[in-house]
Amino acid sequence: MKNIVILFSGEGSNLLNIIETLHLKELQVAAAITNRPNAGGIAKAKAHQVPVEIIDHTNFNSRESFDEKLLQTIESYAPDLVVMAGFMRILTPIVTDNINAINVHPSLLPLFKGGKAIEKSFHSSELKGGISVHWVSSELDGGEVITQDSFVKAEDESLESFTQKIRNLEHKLLPEAIIQILKER
Ligand code: GRF
Repeated sequence: MKNIVILFSGEGSNLLNIIETLHLKELQVAAAITNRPNAGGIAKAKAHQVPVEIIDHTNFNSRESFDEKLLQTIESYAPDLVVMAGFMRILTPIVTDNINAINVHPSLLPLFKGGKAIEKSFHSSELKGGISVHWVSSELDGGEVITQDSFVKAEDESLESFTQKIRNLEHKLLPEAIIQILKER
């Protein structure tokens, strides 16, 4: 079975979704790695016996030293693919040049790169919201887009309903993209 490593920083709804839909069926989630010791996703991964590695970025005095530790940890699992699911860290080429990684971003790239993409997209004049799965490069949210999905904003759309629609799309598209990429490897 092919194996993946998932990087996350927050609630981990995408992490949990990948574990529930794909783990030990289509692939093995070899480890879930987070930079935040209080990330909600930690308990979700542990509940499914997925090994969790916590690399607290505040314990490192440079971006490079954190990235070296992150790379070493990822490589120790020899993953076929690294999946970033809500991993809120800008990475240097120390990591990005040495791994094959995809990321899910809550906007129709190249629109709304970087943080607060959901809010920016919701408050914009764009008629649609959407998500992108893209290859990770050293340019933030700038790697080649693999696949996207979108929806038309409802007239009475609230930030909450908009966010929920984004999450639903992510939970459908990210696992599909992972399976497709692993098939091609
Ligand atoms: C997702 O919207 C993802 O696109 C963004 O961060 C969010 C992560 O949510 N980069 P979760 O931690 O998977 O619930």
